[in-house]
Amino acid sequence: MAFGLWFTLFELLLKLFLILAFVKKGSAGITSTFTRTKWQSFDIPLDHKVLAIPNGYNAPQQVHITQGDYDGKAVMISWVTADKPGSSRVQYGTSENKYDFKADGTVANYTFYNYKSGYIHHCLVDGLEYEIKYYYKIGEGHSSREFWFQTPPKIDPDSPFTFGIIGDLGQTYNSLSTLEHYMQSGGQTVLFLGDLSYADRYQYNDVGIRWDSWGRFIERSAAYQPWIWSAGNHEIEYMPDVGEVLPFKSFLHRFSTPHLASRSKNPLWYAIRRASAHIIVLSSYSPHVKYTPQWLWLRDELKRVDRKKTPWLIIIMHVPIYNSNQAHFMEGESMRAVFERWFVRHRVDFIFAGHVHAYERSLNV
Ligand SMILES: *[C@@H]1O[C@H](CO)[C@@H](O)[C@H](O)[C@H]1NC(C)=O
Repeated sequence: MAFGLWFTLFELLLKLFLILAFVKKGSAGITSTFTRTKWQSFDIPLDHKVLAIPNGYNAPQQVHITQGDYDGKAVMISWVTADKPGSSRVQYGTSENKYDFKADGTVANYTFYNYKSGYIHHCLVDGLEYEIKYYYKIGEGHSSREFWFQTPPKIDPDSPFTFGIIGDLGQTYNSLSTLEHYMQSGGQTVLFLGDLSYADRYQYNDVGIRWDSWGRFIERSAAYQPWIWSAGNHEIEYMPDVGEVLPFKSFLHRFSTPHLASRSKNPLWYAIRRASAHIIVLSSYSPHVKYTPQWLWLRDELKRVDRKKTPWLIIIMHVPIYNSNQAHFMEGESMRAVFERWFVRHRVDFIFAGHVHAYERSLNV
């Protein structure tokens, strides 16, 4: 066992050396002139305009969408109303101001310590056509709001698509710069690597308040293109001091995932197919050793991957299985121990992970 471990570390160091040697030779891997300031960034104050509550009584806020099925012909639209439940209806159509279709969703609320959430709506809009721009409208009367999204191309090896990768976003001024930078990039869908709002840095009612502000913060992108969610450690929110012991409570109420479409019984792990990619979402903080639900599900999902239809096989999760930084060193070992052999055998193209707040990549394994 010790030998195996050290061999892996050696491999990792060797890889790191190779990457460094490669990078030193030129500007390989640098695809942007964007450089973040090294100074610490602070959470954006609640009265800042990028966190503003939309005008109008009970106006929908925190609007975000995600893929609603396995193959990209459905969208789940989610939003919050603050004053009363209101309508969970989405009106939609293929031209602006003309909403020929409608779908009805669900509404729910929850508490966290003494915080009472707004009314959280989730509405599945399905039976869509590929490569069409849809306009949608939510809310009632003068408070209604309109957005749009574009469906992806069909599942096909020749379907081009641009994914963006964001993890560990938070709601600081650096988060804002990241989001604005992403929005200029032309990315069509975000693969989100966990750690969403960092609301768990707050206490008492401010935890819920900072989830709400984060929902408003990401709306500028997430209302118009799907963000594919995976959960990180900041979503666990195990806070027995304030009587909150149900892991992922805020995350699970606020963010929907299409887990049933990939036969997963748990929203924290699931898969989707989009254009030419098969994307598998794993949960670093849910049981994954042999015979656990996540292990059983992944074993079956890997068998469903059809490289003739989706040549790209991408996995996203929060904790990297290889990490040479001191920060979070070896935290992905339990996942590596059970899944690495499957990832190799199934020739996974990419594993994207967050958590470490440092850029690192390995050569092909
Ligand atoms: C949800 O909202 C209803 C209606 O306003 C309220 O009676 C109920 O207490 C709320 N539930 C939670 C869990 O906050």
